[in-house]
Amino acid sequence: MIALTFQARDGKTTDAEAQPGETLLRVGQRAGQPMEGTCGGQMACATCHVLIDPQYLDYLPAPSAEEEDMLDLVPDATRSSRLACQIIMTEHLRDMLVRLP
Ligand code: FES
Repeated sequence: MIALTFQARDGKTTDAEAQPGETLLRVGQRAGQPMEGTCGGQMACATCHVLIDPQYLDYLPAPSAEEEDMLDLVPDATRSSRLACQIIMTEHLRDMLVRLP
């Protein structure tokens, strides 16, 4: 299991556990986080937008052109923005903090 923490907009944190190979979106939904994931991971909705702890960005594959295009449409996107449906959990992401915008 890979331990990680979600932080809501109001600062409240929720600890969660992930299996290697599952998406961050699935982990967040299981942990009761308000991540709609309306399009089911097709990069068509951005309702799974999250902010990744910058120190973990290097452990993630770079976003695809399609993910970049979708993030361009998110008003509060930052350099650490990613779509949770595109992030596959690995051991490198242990103890990562994921903020919900
Ligand atoms: S679930 Fe729709 S873009 Fe991630």
